[in-house]
Order: sequence, then C-alpha cells, then structure tokens
Amino acid sequence: MAEVNLLDRYPRVKRPVEERGQCITEQHRGVARHFGKEYFDGDRLTGYGGYRYHPKFWQATVRRFAEFYDLAEDCSVLDVGCAKGFMLYDFQAFLPQATFAGIDISPYAIAHSPASIRPFLCVGNAKALPFPDRSFDLVISINTVHNLPIEECKRALQEIQRVSKHHAFVTMDAWRNDREREQLMKWNLTALTYLHVEEWIALFNEIGYGGDYYWFLVD
Ligand SMILES: C[S@@+](CC[C@H](N)C(=O)[O-])C[C@H]1O[C@@H](n2cnc3c(N)ncnc32)[C@H](O)[C@@H]1O
Repeated sequence: MAEVNLLDRYPRVKRPVEERGQCITEQHRGVARHFGKEYFDGDRLTGYGGYRYHPKFWQATVRRFAEFYDLAEDCSVLDVGCAKGFMLYDFQAFLPQATFAGIDISPYAIAHSPASIRPFLCVGNAKALPFPDRSFDLVISINTVHNLPIEECKRALQEIQRVSKHHAFVTMDAWRNDREREQLMKWNLTALTYLHVEEWIALFNEIGYGGDYYWFLVD
C-alpha cells in the first residue's frame, strides 16, 4: 500500500473555487448527487458542465498505469465509477488484448459511453461489486468512493480489495491543512465523506485496504 500520484499526467486545471463557493447551494448538490444528465452535461453549478471525450485527459494516464503496474498485454482492468467509460476507452486503444470492465451508479453516463466500450460497462454500486473475488489485475477508482457515506465507503474499499487480484488504486477527496479543507468545502458538490489524509490512511488500515491511493486536493 503506497501513496502515489498516478494522475500526475492528467491535465491540471485552474478551478474557480471562490466563484463556485459563493454560488452553489444544497439544491445544486442535491441535483448533482443524482449523477444524471444535469451532473455530466448540465450547468457547471450542478456538475461538469459537459463531460466530453478528449484524448488529452486519459491517454497519458493509462500509459502511466500500465508502466507503474507493469501491466501485461492480456491483463484485466476494472474502473469503479467509470462514468462514460472514457478512461477505459483509452486503455482499450492502448492495450487491445486486455479485458476491461467498468461500473457506475449512473445509467445516463453508461448510456453516453463510446460504443466500443459500452458492452463492458454496467450500472451498479461500488459498495456491492458484481464480480467474483480476485477477478482483475488492476482495479482503479477515481474520485468515486467518497460519494458514499463513511460506512459504505469502507464496504466499497473492501469490495475493491476483494475483486483485485494484484493491484488497486483509488483517489479520495481529502485535505492536509485548514486551507485545503476550506477550499474543498467550497468546491465539493457530491462527496459525503471527506477526510484528512491521515484519517483516510487510518480508515484504509482499519478495513484492510492494501492498494495504492492518492488524493483529490483543492488548493
Ligand atoms: C467525480 S466522477 C468521476 C468519474 C471518473 N472516475 C473520472 O475520474 O472522470 C464520480 C463518478 O462516480 C459515480 N458514482 C457515484 N456514486 C457511485 C457509487 N455508489 N457507485 C458507483 N459509482 C458511483 C458517478 O456517477 C460518477 O460517474
């Protein structure tokens, strides 16, 4: 288990934290937490404001995963919280002989995934993964598990651990100091569990999560 930033090749964006902090209400959060059209392709105040494919997002990152975990050409990869499947789509192009699966709570996102990856995606909840033990060489879950209440976060992490044969990598909403906590509170739309990095590590240890991890930090 290690803290490692495998998203360091993901494009960095300057987030309008103050502006969003002044505008979003519990009503916006309520809409976002349905993870429907409004979250992915609606207004910026209720989500992404347009969740579209572009190779700049994931192509370099899937290579990063493949190199870091030394993935074989015929490996198997699961993405928990795969949204429209864009990361797996780029994985599929990079490792065409590999096996892929994605799961997401959002029927809207799955329905709007690229046709070539859609047959490998399903609607479901991270807290009950519909796969046998040790099914995948690598299980990835980016900015997803923290959308559950804390006890369900623990179950989701245990599920990730259970279906992983070798490796797992998760990212969580987190902070390291008061400033980052304040910024995260302003930016957060959907997370139900946000913890200090040390609290996340304690939680990983408590439930026996042995995979790798990194943080979604707002600075
Ligand atoms: C911030 S988005 C991240 C999407 C993608 N992993 C990425 O990095 O672009 C969070 C995703 O988690 C999904 N999600 C939220 N709660 C979930 C749950 N309990 N089980 C599975 N997916 C969930 C949402 O529908 C959404 O696609």
